[in-house]
Amino acid sequence: MKLFSLPRQLLCVSVLSLCAAGVNAAEKVTLKLAHNLERSHVVHQAFEELAKEVQQLSDGNMRIRIYPSSQMGSARETLELLQNGALDMTKGSASDLESFDNTYAIYNLPYLFKDQNHFNKVVFGETGKQIMDSTKDKGFFAISAYVAGTRSFYAKKPITRPEDLKGLKIRVQASPTTLKMVELMGGSPTPVSFGEVYTAMQQGVVDGAENNIPSWVQTRHIEIAKVFSEDEHTSIPDFLVISTKTWDRLTPEQQQILMKAADNSQAYQQKLWNKVDAESREQAKAMGATILPVDKAPFREVVKPLFDEFAKDPKQAALLAKFEAAAE
Ligand code: GCU
Repeated sequence: MKLFSLPRQLLCVSVLSLCAAGVNAAEKVTLKLAHNLERSHVVHQAFEELAKEVQQLSDGNMRIRIYPSSQMGSARETLELLQNGALDMTKGSASDLESFDNTYAIYNLPYLFKDQNHFNKVVFGETGKQIMDSTKDKGFFAISAYVAGTRSFYAKKPITRPEDLKGLKIRVQASPTTLKMVELMGGSPTPVSFGEVYTAMQQGVVDGAENNIPSWVQTRHIEIAKVFSEDEHTSIPDFLVISTKTWDRLTPEQQQILMKAADNSQAYQQKLWNKVDAESREQAKAMGATILPVDKAPFREVVKPLFDEFAKDPKQAALLAKFEAAAE
């Protein structure tokens, strides 16, 4: 008899012992969430909050088991596991996601947002949601988004003008847009996965990197690269990404529980972000590091060709127009 092709109810009749524990037991589910962040990262903390809430809302029937610190591989590798259905969830920064789907490229454009309000309006609004849903046919999609401040350069020496990047190898995420951005600014972009940046800096494989202040401090890159030049070139959100196969396997009730907890984790993370950002600045000072203000005008000027090239694609141009409209 071909047991596995039978509908679930029939299967219960056939394999009675397995179903004896009742309907709830059949609905128990544990989702694996693997990512490349350390436990101190605010996005990891938001995931812990999410896991707690999912468990509470489902009376313990739904659990999320988190594997942090690249235990299951780099961002690229965990996204591939999602596509194969070998992992349920991961964190994807818009930079990681760009090489899987070009729709995410827009978030990697420099000086895209006017301010935090503009960012929030787009990322947590209608347009942001459309982007999050857009990759379902690629095997995954995003169910929540997280703020990640602004990214700036850090190295052993100040980078306050594009000329300062000349001859410097700068670690970047695997985003084609970021690679072009650093090139236009005059530096040599070098993609390295997040967990390997400290060693790459220590061994001189790269001369510097770019990130937000909490990541610079928490990863201890600050020990090697003590000068943070705040040019604030990008604001790139992080996303909680789920495998389409996993999503389709969940019952409507389980989907609802997960979405509610995912929504709440966004609000939780936003509050935490401001606190962690302020604390990290204090910590940086206490460690004897320097945070330099930067005149952004020359940096904005050199990256203009990136926008011209981007707008050549009508689909991207339409998306950019939506982003710009949200600034008004
Ligand atoms: C930030 C961001 C992460 C990302 C990391 C990186 O910390 O929140 O999602 O992986 O930068 O530069 O790789």
